[in-house]
Amino acid sequence: MKRNKRLNHYFCLSFTLFWMLGTTFPALGGSSNSLMDIHPYGKLLAVANPDCGTVTLIDLSTKKKLAEIPVGKKPEGVSFVGSNDTLVVTLFAEDTLVVVDTTQQKVIKRISCADEPYGVVSSASGDRVYTTHDYPGLVSAWDTRTWTNTSNFHVAPFVRGLAISPDEKSLFVTGFYNGRLHKIDLETAKIVDQWKGHSTDNLSRSVVLNPKRQKAYLPHIRSRIEVIDGSGSIFPQITVYSTDSETSGSRRTSIAMDTFNGVLVVTNPWEAAITPDGSGLFVVYSATDDMNACKVIDDDYKEIEGRGGPIPVGKNPRAVRVSPDGKTAWVYAAMDFSVNGFDIQSLRNVARIKTCETLPDERWVLGKYLFGSAKNPMSGPRWVSCFSCHPDGLTDGRVWHNPEGLRKTPAFFGMAHTHPLHWSADRDEVQDFEYTIRGRLMQGHGLINGPIPQKRGFEPTERNANLAGKSEDLDALAIYSNSFEVETLSPHALESGKLNEKAQRGKIHFENPAVGCVTCHQGPYYTDSTLAVPKLHDVGTGLDDKSERMGPKYDTPSLIGVYRTAPYLHHGKAPTLMDVLTTSNKGDRHGKTSNLKKAELEELVEFLKALPFELPPKQTPNSVKYRISKTQDK
Ligand code: HEC
Ligand code: HEC
Repeated sequence: MKRNKRLNHYFCLSFTLFWMLGTTFPALGGSSNSLMDIHPYGKLLAVANPDCGTVTLIDLSTKKKLAEIPVGKKPEGVSFVGSNDTLVVTLFAEDTLVVVDTTQQKVIKRISCADEPYGVVSSASGDRVYTTHDYPGLVSAWDTRTWTNTSNFHVAPFVRGLAISPDEKSLFVTGFYNGRLHKIDLETAKIVDQWKGHSTDNLSRSVVLNPKRQKAYLPHIRSRIEVIDGSGSIFPQITVYSTDSETSGSRRTSIAMDTFNGVLVVTNPWEAAITPDGSGLFVVYSATDDMNACKVIDDDYKEIEGRGGPIPVGKNPRAVRVSPDGKTAWVYAAMDFSVNGFDIQSLRNVARIKTCETLPDERWVLGKYLFGSAKNPMSGPRWVSCFSCHPDGLTDGRVWHNPEGLRKTPAFFGMAHTHPLHWSADRDEVQDFEYTIRGRLMQGHGLINGPIPQKRGFEPTERNANLAGKSEDLDALAIYSNSFEVETLSPHALESGKLNEKAQRGKIHFENPAVGCVTCHQGPYYTDSTLAVPKLHDVGTGLDDKSERMGPKYDTPSLIGVYRTAPYLHHGKAPTLMDVLTTSNKGDRHGKTSNLKKAELEELVEFLKALPFELPPKQTPNSVKYRISKTQDK
């Protein structure tokens, strides 16, 4: 989402590249997106700390922290600008690129950019940098002499992973929700190739290229939506695409990292790194706190071979980079707030450096760790973590075939104020997810000592279970889950409180009593449901799915952020917002929309896309207790 600022003029910019790229440089440090980057000369490591809002500089010769520089909210990518003394950082939550001078150890420039900047890479000479933008599905190119946005490539919705080819003629970009790989030709500024993942591929947020062979490696999960089971829903994969356009036949080998590791399951592959000679591959697993060291095999079949089993690397590893001399693999253990070095020969831990001085709230950190963990007490079989379906509080874009019926995974924006939970409002506190932890999906020991009231069939046992205050760990999980406040405006809003003309007309329809949306979607979070009075409504959607066991009434969902959460409705059968109002609204049971003309429906959709166009209060009569309270707004 975006901060208060003007609309996406980016979308209008032409595809033209202002100049072609010059001579080739060897592929060095910053050639693929990561939370860490090592300077091409090997002396300096930079780490972006999303939860501290800082970038830490580490001297790799002394293995000491040099500085921690505040940059802004949720840095998600960092790259040295060629071999210069500057760094560029993407601020996901501020739609901003930040340039840091590593000698002066301070921010020297802030540039506003398109929504949700995520990955960033630099050309070897440092004349250009490129960034992926998640929701708009854009790659933007920047001239680093002037820090101007020279061109944009509209790739596909939700792109994250980014790598620049060794010859610097192309960019490779991954689809976050489908594991697709796209190739952009930088000379023609066109998307020239696409590699399709398996239909279950999901959460593909990074890609590395082999400097010697035409191969791309994508760590990701598979989400098997038909199966709700601790060892059948989520799978860890490394997909290897052959990027040689001459290759015939299948250009994809996908390696199941659970069976690759024998009995020890690894979960949520998040990032990979390759040695400068292309002979070794390292992959970190954020949910099992470990890493695989692999030998790259020169074939088109096996691709990699393990060097022993998974190596413990610290809590919630989110990044791995190999030093330019090929001697050390550096891992960012995000929930330890540390960087750990591993000798590539012996695989021994040789260094540990703290990254952040001021840590977030302790309970929040514990909650985030548990949320991201697939180890006991969260899960026995180790395949599934909460994060596997709710990555950093976002949706996984899936509709799961739950026992009670089809259920779209919601995002957590504003959840502290929109309880009760679940489409059927059968849970009233996040602590009720103890049932999910102990149930078939995760099969964990759970966070409470002793038994909890037994669930019978589809009865909402959880509503009366009152599990809050019984376990510090479970309360921490609730505090973390409730921490996703709405802090950015929709990119479709003009500025705070301001809609474009079309959306303004849509707002009038939305508020028109004859259309009736506000009878249910009311208040700052656009829902009439409260903990005091859970209100369920039959809006005519309950009979669409034969497997439904709890319908036909549902809790009114908040409409905040719906521009980025398709498909819609509890069963996900409405692919677009227009479908919610038309094909999924037979007989006007979900607002009276049949009287609206096509143009009026489009205006209404434009309004929905602009939510939030003003930030909702962080304290309402319905706000829950278990959260980090921020009460500055009214
Ligand atoms: C296999 C995917 C999956 C896993 C794993 C998972 N969830 Fe969910 N989650 C969902 C789906 C699907 C829904 C919607 C279900 C419904 O509303 O009935 C959901 C709903 C929720 C909601 C309600 C959101 C709202 O606004 O109503 C919360 C809170 C939540 N999950 C927390 C968790 C926690 C905590 C864990 C780990 C203990 C977890 N989830 C594990 C898929 C998953
Ligand atoms: C009678 C109460 C009620 C009225 C009136 C109503 N809604 Fe809803 N709305 C709901 C409920 C309940 C759901 C969830 C239904 C489901 O998932 O099957 C919903 C779902 C939605 C969704 C999908 C959200 C998501 O995340 O999938 C959108 C968008 C929406 N409504 C917009 C509108 C608009 C626009 C209007 C007016 C034309 C409207 N609603 C009128 C109760 C209502």
